[in-house]
Amino acid sequence: MDVRKAVIPAAGLGTRQLPTSKAVPKELLPLIDRPLLHYIVEEALDAGLSQMVIVTSQGKDAMANYFDPAPQYEELLERRGETSLATAMRRVREEAEFIFVRQHQQLGLGHAVYTARNAVGDEPFAVMLPDDVIGGGEAPAIGELLDTATAHDASVIAVEQVPPERISSYGVVAPGEADGDAIRVLGMVEKPPAAEAPSDLGIVGRYVLTPELFGAMERVTPGAGGELQLTDGIALLLEEQPVYARRFTGTRYDAGNPMGMLRASVSLALRRSDIGPAFRAWLQDELAQG
Ligand code: G1P
Repeated sequence: MDVRKAVIPAAGLGTRQLPTSKAVPKELLPLIDRPLLHYIVEEALDAGLSQMVIVTSQGKDAMANYFDPAPQYEELLERRGETSLATAMRRVREEAEFIFVRQHQQLGLGHAVYTARNAVGDEPFAVMLPDDVIGGGEAPAIGELLDTATAHDASVIAVEQVPPERISSYGVVAPGEADGDAIRVLGMVEKPPAAEAPSDLGIVGRYVLTPELFGAMERVTPGAGGELQLTDGIALLLEEQPVYARRFTGTRYDAGNPMGMLRASVSLALRRSDIGPAFRAWLQDELAQG
């Protein structure tokens, strides 16, 4: 399956990151030393996706500004010896292409993805939610999904096991037979009450979808929270063609809220070869002091 485009929904209001999100798009909040949006673009590039379709909204122009080429800052960082940051900036500038699409009304995740339909066209595409940070895997999570999508020539959704007390915050998959890494999806439901969840497999914000999703989205009516849900669109898609779920090897953090952001920061910092050792030593000291 030849996938080139990543749709990155980033039009939401970010109410879980208030008050900061009053003035700064939550997708630009820094995780250690670069914005969440930067990580998602790096993950896409690592998996061979080069065209980023970012769905944005009024008041969030800072996201487009962030990706404007700025070689003068790369040079400045290099002069200061911060070469890995300079290299990261240069890579995004040289390898990624950006298309910004405006979502004028926040009608839901499914609607945000549908807003990207003309930019995507008639080809399979990835959807990557910048709130869902995935680190420490054997390969980029979206790359693992692309492998399964190519092997089965079908749409694939990322899932992970979710404890019962949190399952009602997720889209949940009704699983069928497993074929290696791929689990056939029989149905999906967005944010079900725990007692009605069809399994403990919650959807995580990485998807590879066929373009027929856009036709399915046209038939979706408002669902959970009164929103046009992507989960409901995929549930209609799987009436026409097979859809698979798969687990990924990394760890996922919900950076859409302050606690998740903190966990992601600590965990990613500990694993970094540059700052990790010093940070670990400091953290051990800090914990020892109680
Ligand atoms: C969205 C999806 C949901 C998925 C979740 C993962 O929900 O609608 O199916 O489980 O992302 O982060 P949100 O968290 O945006 O409400």
